Amino acid sequence: MNILGIETSCDETSSALLCNGEVCSSIISSQLCHTSFGGVVPELASREHERLIVSIVDAALTEANITKNELDAIAATAGPGLIGAVMVGLSFAQGLAYALDLPFVPVNHIEAHIFSPFISEEASRRTPEGSFVSLTVSGGHTLLSVVEPDLSYTVVGRTLDDAAGEAFDKTGKMLGLPYPAGPIIDKLAEEGDPSFHLFPRALTSQSQSSKSWQGNFDFSFSGLKTSVLTWLQKQTPPFIELHKGDIAASIQSAIVGVLVEKSMAVVRSRGIRALSIAGGVSANSALRRAMQQACDREGVRLYLPKPLYSTDNAAMIASLAHLKLSRGMRAEYLYNIAPYASFAAASRRD
Ligand code: KG4
Ligand code: ZN
Repeated sequence: MNILGIETSCDETSSALLCNGEVCSSIISSQLCHTSFGGVVPELASREHERLIVSIVDAALTEANITKNELDAIAATAGPGLIGAVMVGLSFAQGLAYALDLPFVPVNHIEAHIFSPFISEEASRRTPEGSFVSLTVSGGHTLLSVVEPDLSYTVVGRTLDDAAGEAFDKTGKMLGLPYPAGPIIDKLAEEGDPSFHLFPRALTSQSQSSKSWQGNFDFSFSGLKTSVLTWLQKQTPPFIELHKGDIAASIQSAIVGVLVEKSMAVVRSRGIRALSIAGGVSANSALRRAMQQACDREGVRLYLPKPLYSTDNAAMIASLAHLKLSRGMRAEYLYNIAPYASFAAASRRD
């Protein structure tokens, strides 16, 4: 089965081919036009997707050595995302599916992230046999869910304000770093001391209201943002410049500490022995290291996506479509855009 996947929910224009569950091409173009704005400008993102979509899909087909007539299904992100950006990929994919008389599979972007650690040659065989806990951490979402073997899942915790990736990006901006600051903080922190300054870890055992955190799997990162801002305002520019690595490491340590503590709390409370991390922030080296150590200590198996599949990509869209189709879920022919898509499965069972 040859599935063409298309992803345009934010600032990556991406297309991939999945041939019998194996990724045979994956093209990702990251938009650079937003850098000077300190964040993604929605209208610019849509225009850039429109400019690139035809050549990116062509490149994915050429790299996989597959013609349009050899496709069996087309899948695209249907939300959540920036409405104009999602619309470009979704309309293009549906138009192509209609023209080629192929089934169309609308895919929920967050669900695709959840299953991205299992993108492989035989994706359907590699998901854990039992339930697993998924920490999904991106620029727009921070979610803890319990995923069942039939691909259904229950969200048990989510952020009450900012997402983890947003916490990296916004505190990085305060440090004068360009967008997206997450990967730069990761790099700067390699040379820094994470205990240089203790930033707050809200809703955890280390927060001031520690008594009320137990059993609460929600996150809050807005206090960290305020704390970094007010602390930086009290420092001099040369001091900040001199200690940039230490400050980056201290911010990263606060975010990673919360993510690890909450994830392990869900694993323990549910007696589940498998955990996965997905989404852009799962590329963070300190998070990968700290989560691996915590899992090793507690005998939990950790599943991580390849760094290439941590951030937005179309291989995860095609891969979830393949997982669903191979488990008897049927595709749609037309699907309305869902910019704030709920977490209900985007495809239905027969
Ligand atoms: O999943 P993603 O590509 O897009 C969304 O769906 O949001 O995630 C992007 C987010 C950005 O906030 C970016 O700063 C963060 O992932 N990110 C990282 C790293 N790589 C990407 N954050 C920390 N460390 C990284 N290495
Ligand atoms: Zn994403």
